[in-house]
Amino acid sequence: MGGPTERAAARVVRFGDASAIGIARQRVRPPRGNEVLVRVTHAALGATDVLARRGGYVLQPVPGFVPGYDFVGVLETESAVSVALGLRTGARVAGVLPRMGAHATLLVLPPTYLVAVPDALSSEAAATVPLNGVTAALALRYAGPAPRILIQGITGAVGALAAQLALRDGRTLFGTGTTPPPGLADGDPRLTLVDYRDPGWPAEVRERTGGGVEAAIDHTGSPLVREAVAPDGVVVRTAFAGRSGHERGDALRGTAAAVVRSRAHPREVVCSVPFWVLRKRVEYRRMLAGLLGDVAEGRLRAFEPEVYPFSAVWDAHRAAEARSAGRTVVLAM
Ligand SMILES: NC(=O)c1ccc[n+]([C@@H]2O[C@H](COP(=O)([O-])OP(=O)(O)OC[C@H]3O[C@@H](n4cnc5c(N)ncnc54)[C@H](OP(=O)(O)O)[C@@H]3O)[C@@H](O)[C@H]2O)c1
Repeated sequence: MGGPTERAAARVVRFGDASAIGIARQRVRPPRGNEVLVRVTHAALGATDVLARRGGYVLQPVPGFVPGYDFVGVLETESAVSVALGLRTGARVAGVLPRMGAHATLLVLPPTYLVAVPDALSSEAAATVPLNGVTAALALRYAGPAPRILIQGITGAVGALAAQLALRDGRTLFGTGTTPPPGLADGDPRLTLVDYRDPGWPAEVRERTGGGVEAAIDHTGSPLVREAVAPDGVVVRTAFAGRSGHERGDALRGTAAAVVRSRAHPREVVCSVPFWVLRKRVEYRRMLAGLLGDVAEGRLRAFEPEVYPFSAVWDAHRAAEARSAGRTVVLAM
C-alpha cells in the first residue's frame, strides 16, 4: 500500500512543563486488515494532556508517549469496514482514541473509532468536540434521569457541554463556577451557580433542593460533593484532582474509593471515556456523530478553538495550562 510512511509526533520526553515536549519523526506501519490511515489535521489539547505531561494522570503512560485523545483528520486509505461505515478515502473524520497518541500527523487505527465530520462544521471547531463532548454526554448518561443535577466546573470544556445537554433534557441545573458557561444566559432561571471556593456550597445546594440533587457530575473527587447529593442519588466522578506532586496516587486512591462506594448512599460511578470507547464502539460512534451534528446545526455550543500550528506545540501547551475562558486549544497539524 502506498501513502506516507513517516509522521511527526509530539512526544513527552520527561514529565514536566511545556519544555518536556519534543517533536519526533517516527515511522508509520501500513494499515493491517481493516485498519485505515488518517492524516490528522487538528487535535485538541486539554486538561488531561497537561496533567499527563506532568506525570499526574490516572492512566499515565510512561515518558516517550504522545498525548492527545481526540482528533479530526482526513482518511488517506479505506477498508471494507470503513466503507461499510460510509467512510471512504478523502472523508473528513473525527475520533476519540482508547489511549493517548493523537498529537501526531498520521494515525493507523480501526475505522470503528471514526465518524464523519458534518460539512457545515470546520475542522478546527470539530476538534474541540470529541473528548469533551463524549465525556459530558457519557457522564450525563451515568447520572440517569435525575431531574436536578449538579455539574462541577460548569465553566470548563466538559462542564459547559454537560450543562447544555442537561438543560436540553429539561433538567434543573446547579453548577459550581463564578460565571455561567458559554451558551447560557446570565440569570437563566434553570441554572443556579454556586461558588466552589465557599466551603459551604454543598449546604447551599442541599438547602435549595430540600435535601440534595439527584445526581452530580464531579471532576475533583472531593468528598464535599456527596453532601450536595440526596442519599438515593448518584455521584459521577470523571476525574480526581490530587495534591501537587501526588496527583496520580491521589487519583488512584480516589478511583478506588469511588468503586467501593458504588453501593453507598449516594452511590458513585467512575466515568472513564477511554475504557468506554474501547468497549462500546457502536454506542460511542452514535454519540459522537450526534454531538458533532448538534454543534454543526447550532443545537449545542462548543468552546471556540484557539488554534496553534503544530510547530508551536510548546505555546499550545502553555496556553492550555493557562486556560482561557470559553476556548479549547487546538493543534493544527
Ligand atoms: N473521565 C474522562 O474520561 C475524562 C475525559 C476528559 C476530561 N476529563 C477530566 O475532566 C476534568 C475537566 O476537564 P475540562 O477540560 O472541562 O477542564 P477545564 O476546561 O480546565 O475546566 C475545569 C473546570 O473546573 C473548575 N474548577 C477548578 N477548580 C475547582 C474546584 N476546586 N472545584 C470545582 N470546580 C473547580 C474550573 O472553574 P473556574 O474556571 O471557575 O476555576 C473549570 O470550570 C479534567 O480533570 C479532565 O482531566 C475526564
